Amino acid sequence: MSIDTPAIEISELGKTYASGEQALDGVSLTIRRGEIFALLGPNGAGKTTLISIICGIVNPGPGRVRVEGFDIVRDWRAARSLIGLVPQELHTDAFESVWNTVSFSRGLFGLAPKPAYVEQLLRDLTLWDKRGSEMRTLSGGMKRRVMIAKALAHEPRVLFLDEPTAGVDVELRRGMWQVVRRLRDNGVTVVLTTHYIEEAEEMADRVGVIHRGRLVEVEATATLMSRLGRKQLSVNLVEPLQAVPEALAERDVSLAEDGHTLVYDYDAAAEETGVRQLLAALEHSGVAYRDISTRQSSLEEIFVNLVNHREDGAP
Ligand SMILES: Nc1ncnc2c1ncn2[C@@H]1O[C@H](COP(=O)(O)OP(=O)(O)O)[C@@H](O)[C@H]1O
Ligand SMILES: [Mg+2]
Repeated sequence: MSIDTPAIEISELGKTYASGEQALDGVSLTIRRGEIFALLGPNGAGKTTLISIICGIVNPGPGRVRVEGFDIVRDWRAARSLIGLVPQELHTDAFESVWNTVSFSRGLFGLAPKPAYVEQLLRDLTLWDKRGSEMRTLSGGMKRRVMIAKALAHEPRVLFLDEPTAGVDVELRRGMWQVVRRLRDNGVTVVLTTHYIEEAEEMADRVGVIHRGRLVEVEATATLMSRLGRKQLSVNLVEPLQAVPEALAERDVSLAEDGHTLVYDYDAAAEETGVRQLLAALEHSGVAYRDISTRQSSLEEIFVNLVNHREDGAP
């Protein structure tokens, strides 16, 4: 295996479940070694299916997948040994201790015990104090961290995290991201799925947007975020209006039902967003406002945009 061998190479992968549901349609993707890659998409997009195929849990359809050069079908054992998975649904043995849950996982891969390594994992994931606790006594966030430790027990080269922060509170989330970054710094490739755009933005080096089983975009996170940067500006008025003021009629401005809020939809990545002109026009027409706020377009709106863009045949 050469140093340039990608962590993961997927070509033209499809998957149709026995139910007839087509979950993946011609997915091609290369994930580099040592990057954090986020698969971003709404529920039902095919994220779990894609990850489950790479990890050997779901049978692949047509196409080909290689993990550090090993074909997941022909060389499944070698491929599997390089992979750690934290599944979306957590199954744990309620009466097993944290220590055993993590340690036994090494054995499943035929590896000798390595207590110093397991100790370091538990310390990194702030689980050391809980090593003797039974799984059933842990909170959801702690269980998820135990599952991360378990997935790392056999020292995998590629770690998959399927919706890792579902049910995890904000504080623990931050700790988890620190662990993920440290892994990446140690050369581990991390692939995570999420339907939170903020999570992809915060964590990933690159993002793949998946929608209805198709990969519609793969971009460096910063590039994608600037392209997806549609925002909404809300101007909260002192006095309600009957209609959008004449001076703003040309712009993409609407008036909320109660007449108290003007809403302006704009491209935050554009050279000229129009925000300055909008506020100047308000000032000029003598419309007083109390407050202004902006919000990012929702993921759903962004997907609709991306997919329409694609279907228009634009690059
Ligand atoms: N075991 C299964 N049998 C039949 N259909 C499935 C199965 N698992 C997932 N699907 C379907 O495949 C599609 C993709 O699901 P999934 O991969 O779980 O998406 P995501 O993880 O992005 O939410 C959905 O339409 C889902 O209903
Ligand atoms: Mg899923």
